[in-house]
Amino acid sequence: MSQKLIIANWKMNPQTQKEADKIFSGILLSVKNIKNTSVVVCPPSLFIGNLKKNNKILIGAQNVSGFSDGAYTGEISAKMLKDKNITYSIVGHSESRASGDSNELINKKINLLLKNKLNIVLCIGEKERDHNGFYLSFIKKQLHECLAGISKSQIKNIVIAYEPIWAIGVDALREADVSEFIEMSIFIKKIIGDMYDVKTAHDIGILYGGSVHPENAESFLIEGRASGLLVGRDSLNAKKFSKILICADKIK
Ligand code: PGA
Repeated sequence: MSQKLIIANWKMNPQTQKEADKIFSGILLSVKNIKNTSVVVCPPSLFIGNLKKNNKILIGAQNVSGFSDGAYTGEISAKMLKDKNITYSIVGHSESRASGDSNELINKKINLLLKNKLNIVLCIGEKERDHNGFYLSFIKKQLHECLAGISKSQIKNIVIAYEPIWAIGVDALREADVSEFIEMSIFIKKIIGDMYDVKTAHDIGILYGGSVHPENAESFLIEGRASGLLVGRDSLNAKKFSKILICADKIK
């Protein structure tokens, strides 16, 4: 990945279409001068249809059903996303995992998204870090099970977002240190290398997510060599999100 990929995950926010349109317009204004960065906004699906059409911001989904179609109340299929010109979908976010998404179900979702030619942001991350390094085997299991049966050519459509749960949201213990992200990137690449090959490991994009702010974005992107960022709270503030975009865009 040469261009940085910056993803806004709005989660279940904001509460009205009016507010969603306002934040989106604010982001749209700032992307006018963005040239080297891919920008994806993942709003609540109800708001998508109304957001101003443009060729600067890609629209993503926050999750997708593990079934292709049928009697699944409340679910949205990969084919529906494709039909609405949605190009990315997050899967395996810790908040979706907390409401029941297992690695096995995430694997089904990935397969359906691939079948419908969508790009995938696969979130992984541990709840806590222990001195014995058990969190590393937890990450390894997430990757092995979520990517089971996914071929070398399919993985080109997948980026991994490392989001330690302890660094996410208002209850975050703290944000991750850049060194912790670097260590984890190396570990993820080692696992991908063992599962596929060295080139696949080299090429795979790894994003950082969890309390990303304009103040720490640059260090993850430059020192941490992150392929991009997954931004929660600060993506609901067009000014803050724009600062993150400007910072990503300066990096060659
Ligand atoms: P946060 O959320 O930036 O609000 O910590 C990140 C995420 O959950 O994707």
